[in-house]
Amino acid sequence: MTTSSILLASDHAGFDLKAALGSALIERGREISDLGPGDRSSVDYPDMAERLARALLEHEDAHGKGSAFGLLICGTGIGIGIAANRLSRIRAATCHDVTTARLARAHNDANVLCLGARIIGLEVALDCVDAFLATPFEGGRHQRRIDKIEGLDRP
Ligand code: RB5
Repeated sequence: MTTSSILLASDHAGFDLKAALGSALIERGREISDLGPGDRSSVDYPDMAERLARALLEHEDAHGKGSAFGLLICGTGIGIGIAANRLSRIRAATCHDVTTARLARAHNDANVLCLGARIIGLEVALDCVDAFLATPFEGGRHQRRIDKIEGLDRP
């Protein structure tokens, strides 16, 4: 888990938190890739969600196993998560605290953490990121449920 690279993207509302989290992750020795935006100009969160989701799927191996995680930030973390979840094999979870971030990994095998810059501050956001990155998927009965989610995909 510690070797996974992290892809970051946000909309304008999430820009400052993205920058702060990116710096903190670099300080912690994490490999990050900031997919934008590069400034606070208004951007539509579905565009940024799609950009990150498609980049994340490129990190999958032939068995669909990913070697990276995504971090998406908008005002609430909701819209950008809804958009990212439209792509197959993206499991984006909007989290507000350590518990939701931990369980998003342990039970849902989430590969994208979504945060709301207008909802939580930097410290809570960092705690969420740490919990998300440190928690392995538990598998077992949870894998069966993930498989059922994939079965719900549109044709
Ligand atoms: C942008 O104003 C805001 O709507 C967006 O960041 C997000 O909160 C949507 O879910």
